[in-house]
Amino acid sequence: MRTTYLDVLQNKPYTHTPLWIMRQAGRYLPEYRQVRSKFTDFMEMCRNADACAEVALQPITRYDLDASIVFSDILTIPEAMGMDLQFISGQGPVFSSPLQDKQSICNLLAPEEAMGKLEYVANAVRTTKAALQDKIPLIGFCGSPWTLAAYMIEGHGSKQFTKLRKMMYSAPSTLHLLLEKLAEISKLYLASQIQAGANALMIFDTWGGLLSAQNYPLFSLQYMDNICQYIKEKYPHIPVTFFTKGGGIWLKSIAEKSCDGAGVDWSISMHDAALKIDGKVALQGNLDPAALYGSNQSIQEAVKQIFQQKVPTARYIFNLGHGIYPDIDPDKVKVMVEAVREYGNISQKSAV
Ligand code: CP3
Repeated sequence: MRTTYLDVLQNKPYTHTPLWIMRQAGRYLPEYRQVRSKFTDFMEMCRNADACAEVALQPITRYDLDASIVFSDILTIPEAMGMDLQFISGQGPVFSSPLQDKQSICNLLAPEEAMGKLEYVANAVRTTKAALQDKIPLIGFCGSPWTLAAYMIEGHGSKQFTKLRKMMYSAPSTLHLLLEKLAEISKLYLASQIQAGANALMIFDTWGGLLSAQNYPLFSLQYMDNICQYIKEKYPHIPVTFFTKGGGIWLKSIAEKSCDGAGVDWSISMHDAALKIDGKVALQGNLDPAALYGSNQSIQEAVKQIFQQKVPTARYIFNLGHGIYPDIDPDKVKVMVEAVREYGNISQKSAV
């Protein structure tokens, strides 16, 4: 297996900067849209292990990438706990009955019971792992408890997530009850992905950046750390990366937790990010996804700039600062990948 992605996270020597792309399997690829068109419902596609494996491999076939990610979604967990979930085109995920109070949280299925409904995700991991033939590692994932709670309480995506943040201040213990329940199931869920063949894990904290500096450790980071510690006890060899979108300012406290890697969005320079983590974790990031709308030359330039900013001692995985946009031209992605190969060759640089 080409283990460079794992090597960076596990602090082993490596010769080129590994790269993968958040949301690399998705609508920007015509071959994804073709498979997707066979299913009316997105979750129906997630339940089909062969379709999941096929689309997970599409970006790997097209580009020279160092990791594959399981094709699924973070909202599989709330659905398995009994919430009705629809993906509405143009609007994204919608829960028909968002959580409103303690009673609705108590009514959610218990972690062990909900896990019984998530067998299809482990199947997707197994099928994808077999299809990859051990060429590159497979990343399993879940959402952070805070990010799942955001959708479960608000009912859908939002700019402000007012209902969620209202609960945080008006009924904090109710919110903590939900976060604890989500952390418990996330432990079992990630463990099941490892048992099915995942080589590394990623926790997506897409909405952690909504929190204040005081509340981020209490409502998001501590729960991610709690999940990660459980995984580290059982599977010490499996690296775990936390990605808090908007969390660049908190990288120092993230690096002090049990994770092996931290994802970085484009609001902070790689240089400043590396100074904050002081060598404690590997960094992943952080090209602005909108840079892929630019000319080939501007993409090459943007990639080069990231490598120039990076502190040379930082362990580093190239990625976008957030998921790739659905209307990006796949040829532009190729330009980015080739630029990473050109500027990220470490053995060549040290020979100069
Ligand atoms: O290659 C991959 O990364 C694909 C696997 C994957 C998906 N979702 C597939 C998907 C992963 C890792 C996710 C994570 C995810 N899902 C996150 C965290 C990462 C992030 O981007 O912040 C979040 C917040 C979600 C929730 C979600 N799922 C939203 C908001 C949406 C609708 C908007 C959108 O981005 O499309 C989805 C649907 C979804 N998940 C699609 C895909 C390919 C598009 C659905 C379709 O094809 O109809």
